[in-house]
Amino acid sequence: MSSAENSSPHVLLTGANGFVASHILAILINRGYTVTATVRSQGKAEDVMKTHPSWKNKVKFVIVADFTSAKPFDHLFESPKTPYSYVIHTASPLKFQVSDIRKEMIEPAEKGTTEILKTAHQHGGTALKRFVLLGSAVSMLNSFEDMSKEGKPYTEKDWNPVTAEQAVDRNDPVLGYNVSKTRAEAAAWKFMKQNTTSFDLAVINPDIIIGPMIHPISGPQSINETNHFAIASFIDGTHKEIDGVTFPFYHFVDVRDVARSHVDALENSSAANQRIILISGLISPQLVVNSICKNFPALADRVPKGNPSQILPPGVHPTGWDMRVSLGILADGTKEGKWEYIGLEKSVIDTVESMIKNSVI
Ligand SMILES: NC(=O)c1ccc[n+]([C@@H]2O[C@H](COP(=O)([O-])OP(=O)(O)OC[C@H]3O[C@@H](n4cnc5c(N)ncnc54)[C@H](OP(=O)(O)O)[C@@H]3O)[C@@H](O)[C@H]2O)c1
Repeated sequence: MSSAENSSPHVLLTGANGFVASHILAILINRGYTVTATVRSQGKAEDVMKTHPSWKNKVKFVIVADFTSAKPFDHLFESPKTPYSYVIHTASPLKFQVSDIRKEMIEPAEKGTTEILKTAHQHGGTALKRFVLLGSAVSMLNSFEDMSKEGKPYTEKDWNPVTAEQAVDRNDPVLGYNVSKTRAEAAAWKFMKQNTTSFDLAVINPDIIIGPMIHPISGPQSINETNHFAIASFIDGTHKEIDGVTFPFYHFVDVRDVARSHVDALENSSAANQRIILISGLISPQLVVNSICKNFPALADRVPKGNPSQILPPGVHPTGWDMRVSLGILADGTKEGKWEYIGLEKSVIDTVESMIKNSVI
């Protein structure tokens, strides 16, 4: 790395090979940050570099194999020539095929967050200004929301009441995921309350994330969980019809907006100590197939048509979100002073195009 690059602020990014983090890494590199990035193995670092040869010498990879091991992050802070100015923590389990909800979802999510915060506090020094946590709207909404009627819109003050016992007793991985994100975020705020740190915390809470994929792809199994259930599953034969198909949540945001919000949040003073809701608008199985059929006639015979005017599944009335406070913070983080979301149709088009380009559908 040249000395010029080294003089730019240094960011530590976790889980860099993931769907969302790949976009964050692309923006960090593009905006000239010095980046150290974690992945779980050397092979995964090599996959990122094979996918993005132009990132050579622009990112340094460090391996963190297991969040539940002793002091998993200490070695990251021992050797950097330039201390970190910022941490963006994204790595957390998001696969619904698990056999042990506590061990595979809840523990790594919570432990990963608390351990990196502890290490950042103990070894990060005074250069470290901000810790940005990729949270989730599932730590704000209520997993047991009554979908038969629209409730009071959620705000940044809401917390999901779901418990680990409920997820484990029902053997429900979506609930397990909701618990993992809620507990990880709650642990982060508790840590900040109990310690006087040199850095502050900003948590970004997106709902279902879809969008083009720039992470390493080696076949259909590389489609990330949410792009699969929200989009690919309507093309790859998983759903033969729309009747009876439901989503766990009915709001979405495009991955490019998620990535941009994280990098903007590094230097946005309004983001300090905030939870930030990140939602573009409504998503439903019918809205997704409507967009695919309209824009990809060649795929139409593989995609169930449903009833194009019945936008939400019968009886489903999802509660909305009051995003006024979050929109103000997001706007403050932009050069233009204005935050605009990518809409559903563009997001679906770009996602399907990226699936076609990668030959995964
Ligand atoms: N996609 C969404 O709709 C959505 C919505 C809200 C929030 N989020 C959050 O966004 C973040 C990234 O999600 P994504 O959609 O990009 O999923 P993803 O592609 O599956 O990325 C997850 C990343 O976390 C790493 N990871 C998973 N389990 C881990 C563990 N036990 N120890 C260490 N690293 C682990 C993965 O590493 P490997 O590749 O080695 O498994 C990968 O780098 C997560 O925090 C997720 O909760 C996602």
